[in-house]
Amino acid sequence: MNIIEYSSKDILALEQRYRAMFVNSLGGFKSLSLIGTRNRNGQSNLAVFNSFVHIGANPPLFGFIVRPDSVERHTLNNILETRIFTVNHVRKEFYTAAHQTSARYPEDVSEFEATGLTEENKPGYYAPFVAESHIKIGASFRQKIDIALNGTIMILAEIMYISMPEDALMPDGFVDLEKAGTITCAGLDSYHSTERISRLTYAKPDVIPGLMDNIHSGH
Ligand SMILES: Cc1cc2nc3c(=O)[nH]c(=O)nc-3n(C[C@H](O)[C@H](O)[C@H](O)COP(=O)(O)O)c2cc1C
Repeated sequence: MNIIEYSSKDILALEQRYRAMFVNSLGGFKSLSLIGTRNRNGQSNLAVFNSFVHIGANPPLFGFIVRPDSVERHTLNNILETRIFTVNHVRKEFYTAAHQTSARYPEDVSEFEATGLTEENKPGYYAPFVAESHIKIGASFRQKIDIALNGTIMILAEIMYISMPEDALMPDGFVDLEKAGTITCAGLDSYHSTERISRLTYAKPDVIPGLMDNIHSGH
């Protein structure tokens, strides 16, 4: 195996797009979701994001990163305006449409209409869900963190609602993402379906983790 090495200086010297592709893919496989929002006038918006991180379970919090607002950021603006949004897992059946939502459509164009994805509205919930998604989360904005290092913004939110196929939920609360059809991505254009190797038992010092293959989905 030939090994190539890069110093910090080498990385900074790379062509901008090449560097973005290179560094972005180093983050490994990412969670892939469509964020649904609506502005104050009711105009819906949908955009693909891959920077979700679990923050904590009590209360149920997650975060994601928005790029610097050098161009209009509809998702960010709508979230700050209405404080409500949806997170919808992507499936193989519509990943090209999900990718297409990253195109820079004008504010008055809904990416739902532009990509053929179906807007699903739930009573009492201002932001639109994606009907084609199997795992759908309703979230409430909690905090905006400005990352001074590079102008990116971290949005922290609380999970207020979850909808998913019953058979994707394992008895111990683990969500079987493959059963729900959720796919993943690497970098900004590489989409992947996954295959679980195994779940392992809780790790304890001096005990070799065992396989948890006898846990089955179904509630
Ligand atoms: C696979 C993929 C992942 C992306 N992840 C992010 C992300 O985590 N943060 C971000 O700011 N933009 C991300 N983008 C770019 C946004 O989808 C794109 O800027 C989009 O136009 C934003 O739409 P909006 O202006 O309607 O919010 C991603 C694009 C792709 C293709």
